[in-house]
Amino acid sequence: MKIKIYNKEGNEIIPKEKTVFLPEIRVEKNFEHFIIKEIYEQQISSKILIESLKNEQSSILDKIISLIYNSNKIVFIAAGSSYHSSLIASHLLRKLGFESYSIVASEFEEMNYDKKTLVFLVSQSGETMDTILAAKKLKDKVFSLVSVVNVPFSTLHRIADLSLEIKAGVEKCVAATKTYTNQVITFFYLAKLLGMNIDVEKIPRGVSEAIKENEEKIKNLAKNLKDLKDIFIIGRSINYYSSLEIALKLKEIAYIHAEALYGGELKHGTLALIDENSYVLALNPYFDENIKTNIEEVKARGAKLFEIPKDFYVDSDYPYFSLYSVIIGQLLTYYIAKEKNLPIDYPRNLAKSVTVK
Ligand code: M6R
Repeated sequence: MKIKIYNKEGNEIIPKEKTVFLPEIRVEKNFEHFIIKEIYEQQISSKILIESLKNEQSSILDKIISLIYNSNKIVFIAAGSSYHSSLIASHLLRKLGFESYSIVASEFEEMNYDKKTLVFLVSQSGETMDTILAAKKLKDKVFSLVSVVNVPFSTLHRIADLSLEIKAGVEKCVAATKTYTNQVITFFYLAKLLGMNIDVEKIPRGVSEAIKENEEKIKNLAKNLKDLKDIFIIGRSINYYSSLEIALKLKEIAYIHAEALYGGELKHGTLALIDENSYVLALNPYFDENIKTNIEEVKARGAKLFEIPKDFYVDSDYPYFSLYSVIIGQLLTYYIAKEKNLPIDYPRNLAKSVTVK
């Protein structure tokens, strides 16, 4: 079937073709699954992104900074992993003194907005229907719409007034790994431009070390965790958002019921479930004094406890730890799913791009 398109005057419109190239990333190693290839690629895709933010995309960033300073409120709208990276973004902006929050795209009707609200649409595919519906409804009703996407000229890119690309290259596995990492780095970079002391240049190396230093250990640990049914992942402040992302990876790829919660919420209910049969993963960097008490609470009840960075080597400085801890979670998920012989790259019931409401 051939479809022709006409304008209001009845003249045929001949669509122009546009070929989109995503950066090609090569890692000299053979991989059994896309996800582990993509986990490895993060060392390179993060570098490509940082270069692009410093050069090719610097004028777009200047405009975004000006929009931020001239708005009254900044809201990030996204789904799934993109929502988790958005939570990090709004956390960083609040730390810098801006009024900012993140909202799940399918719940965007809950948000208050006006002509001074700056909206970020965060999506690796740029085709997530929940986020597109929010964008269409908000177009011209807010201060400005800025998309942060991996796929240039995707629907969200085209709806937005301004667009940043995260330059992660093609991601084939349904689970987001390198796109999540590049979203977080984009937000770190934005926070740096707004005055936060963040050295983004050291991140590719930190990512590479997180993989190199932990992979063998995680491979072995995964053998013992293949029958794991439930795990609690606790973090506080920025690390709670990383807990959400690790939990999502464990659910979608390793089919493990993983529940992320603020450490401080344990004593408000969940502690009733904790005993010597429970598994807990705690995000416990040195800068988080509060989580230490929560760790004692689960230890006292005999839970089997893993801690990052105590049991896994990563740089535990703020805010880098929030990213590196997720790399550990990605590896852990991969190797458990492999032990379980699961369809790692294409988990049941899920699609890479959710184009329905
Ligand atoms: O393409 P998007 O970033 O908009 O997709 C949103 C979610 O569907 C996506 O992040 C999903 O949660 C990931 N596959 C999880 O790994």
